[in-house]
Amino acid sequence: MILKEIQRLYHNELDVLYGREEVDTFFSYLLEEYCGLKLFTLALTPDLTVDKEKESLFFKALSELKLEKPIQQILGKTFFCELTIKINEHVLIPRPETEELILWIQEKYEKKQAPLKILDIGTGSGCIAIALAKHFKSAKVHAMDISDEALKLAKENASLNDVYIEFLKADILTLESSHNEYDLIVSNPPYVRVSEKEQIKNNVLQYEPHLALFVTDDDPLLFYKKIANFAVDNLVRNGELFFEINQYLSSSMITLLEKNKFSEIELKNDVFENPRMIRAVKNF
Ligand SMILES: C[S@@+](CC[C@H](N)C(=O)[O-])C[C@H]1O[C@@H](n2cnc3c(N)ncnc32)[C@H](O)[C@@H]1O
Repeated sequence: MILKEIQRLYHNELDVLYGREEVDTFFSYLLEEYCGLKLFTLALTPDLTVDKEKESLFFKALSELKLEKPIQQILGKTFFCELTIKINEHVLIPRPETEELILWIQEKYEKKQAPLKILDIGTGSGCIAIALAKHFKSAKVHAMDISDEALKLAKENASLNDVYIEFLKADILTLESSHNEYDLIVSNPPYVRVSEKEQIKNNVLQYEPHLALFVTDDDPLLFYKKIANFAVDNLVRNGELFFEINQYLSSSMITLLEKNKFSEIELKNDVFENPRMIRAVKNF
């Protein structure tokens, strides 16, 4: 079948749902993945064809996109801090704001001794732990999650990206101590309140694991409280704690960290000027 014809079908069936520009973006990812071709090659060679096998891949992806399946799950991968990270239905798709958190951590350690021991809590695909292990080459990195499926994929991602990470299966809500002292603890825990579900897009609600996303409205900082407590006992003196946060809960986050005697508490906005990250130092 002529590729241009498949592209036309994509626009016919998906533009109403996503808009023409986004459909072009999806099509270009699939074209690269299935045929190793760039969109401009197709524009220059409009009579390019694909065999039956590839044609059926394009049609399968088209029907999945119609059902709002995220393109990253269709491709089975995404890019995070210039690394390839495998994705499936058991892990959260790494977000751009989490890349901003990584950049902020890197920036904060630019002028001081790099962390020697790092813990990532709720590692999911492993994206945070892997990006930090790549950057802080001599650090020992540990990463924890409650989900066996997430840990399995995170391990694959670590070896795909050629870093060694010690993965631990644990429930942070019941974990007492890690018997480790970390220089840096980082977490992007579940933080979306059930009442915020209405604002969440269908593709997220339907396809991403609710275990990674939601907390109850009556205790939305549940994970942060537990992790802050854990960090008090498991950070070295002058160790740092970094969180990605719910933009609507930033002032409660400051209060929570103050209560736990953290100092140098600092909020940071993402590119959309929303407070999405917080950092604190344990100086005792
Ligand atoms: C928001 S996702 C973050 C995933 C990844 N770190 C990222 O930034 O893309 C939260 C992660 O916390 C894990 N999680 C949920 N409850 C947990 C618990 N009680 N103990 C440990 N991990 C938990 C989920 O499985 C999920 O992978």
